This record gives sequence, C-alpha cells and structure tokens, in this order.
Amino acid sequence: MIESNSVYAGLAGSSASLPKNPGSGPDGPIESAIEASMCAQPSLGESSLGWLESRGNWSRRNFIKGIIASGVAVSGVPYLASAASRPALQAGAVERLISLNVNGQTRRVDVLPNETLAMTLRYKLGLTGTKLGCDRAECGACTVLIDGVTHYSCSTLTQRVRGKEIQTVEGLESASGELHPVQQAFIDELGPQCGFCTPGQVMAAVGLLMENPDPTREEARQAMAGNICRCGNYDHYLNGIMRAAREV
Ligand code: FES
Ligand code: FES
Repeated sequence: MIESNSVYAGLAGSSASLPKNPGSGPDGPIESAIEASMCAQPSLGESSLGWLESRGNWSRRNFIKGIIASGVAVSGVPYLASAASRPALQAGAVERLISLNVNGQTRRVDVLPNETLAMTLRYKLGLTGTKLGCDRAECGACTVLIDGVTHYSCSTLTQRVRGKEIQTVEGLESASGELHPVQQAFIDELGPQCGFCTPGQVMAAVGLLMENPDPTREEARQAMAGNICRCGNYDHYLNGIMRAAREV
C-alpha cells in the first residue's frame, strides 16, 4: 500500500525509519525527513555516522542545517545578482520630481522624461497663457523665453531646462499690475483679432527687443517670421513692435 506521505518515503529510501508524522518534529517536516533519510542510507551507515560524530562538534542536526542553508544560498544567487545591477539602472534613470524657475518662482513639478515644456506649463503648472497650436515647431503659439532667448516650448523637453530661467506671458506684468510695453503697444495697435497667436507674438517681440531694442521694421519682420497669425494681422503686430521700441 502506498504511504500517504510517499514523498518522505522516497527521500528515505526505506519506510523503516520514517517518522510517524514528519510535520510534528521539533525541526519541521523537511529536516525530519532528511534526518530519516540519512539514517536509512546504506552508504552512510552507522559506522560512518559514528566516525563523523566523533569529529569535534559535528552533529546530524548541524549537517542537515548546513544542507538547507546552502540550498537557500544557491537559490538566492539570481536575486543577489539582480540586486547588484540595480544601482546602475537607478543611476541611468531620470529624476521626475524637479524644480523649475518659472517667472521668477521656483516650482516643484513631476515631469516625465519625454514631456515638453508646453505640456508642463499648461497642464502641470496651470500657465495656460502659453498656447498649443501645431505642437510641432511650426506656428509659434507656444513661444516662451528661456534665459532671455525665444524658444518653442512645444519642442523643448522640460528636463532640459532645469536650472534655466523660463518666462511666460504671465510673467511680463509688473508687480504693480502694469502691462509690459509690448502688450500695451499690441493693444494700442489692434494686434489681436481672435487672440490665439497673441501670447506667442508678445513673447517673440519681447525677445526681439531684449536682443535688439531699436530694430528696423524689416528686422522686426524677420524676427517675427516664426510666429503665424491665422487672422493675418501681421502689420498690426509690426506696428505694435515699432511703437514698443520707441517707448521702451
Ligand atoms: S505649438 Fe509650438 S510651434 Fe506651434
Ligand atoms: S490674431 Fe488670430 S491667429 Fe493671430
């Protein structure tokens, strides 16, 4: 008849020395089974065990514990190897929680590695004055200043502007609430029609006047070539730039 605990019988090679209930021993079922197996092995008979037991502090219990410990060590090798390689992966990863200097303020924000500045400004920081038109560096609606230079924020990775000064249209107003001279000049010259392109036009004009405070009309036209106005109000915007240049 097959023993209900046949796995232990297999270990022992003989049922003669099987414990009645392997799970009830002081060292648990596995140790009890292995110990039973040791006793039954013909190659490790009483004379051999007696010789080993006579060697210093050796005991069957210590021997069995050594086997179990070596098994744990071997099975843990893959885990330890992966743990050793983990610091290298972390070193190559991009930190997501970063600080940005936007309009003179430090803003902490969670940024994905492939996130554009336009997305961060609009949807993480709530600065919706920066518009998204084409989202592929063609229309200029998303223009912002980075360290005083105009950039398309739809085509700038946010992770690349850490430590730089970012200025959006929301940051042009003075502390007392006055509009920037370019903003006021655009109003005076009736630049905005639908107004969608206006923030980008304003930022491009501000960038131009920072670099060239007294441009000719043709220089201004060239500088504004990257900003499309679907309403076609280019001359009004140019009038505004020339007026702002006189007043700044
Ligand atoms: S939205 Fe960036 S250039 Fe058009
Ligand atoms: S004012 Fe309408 S797109 Fe320029």
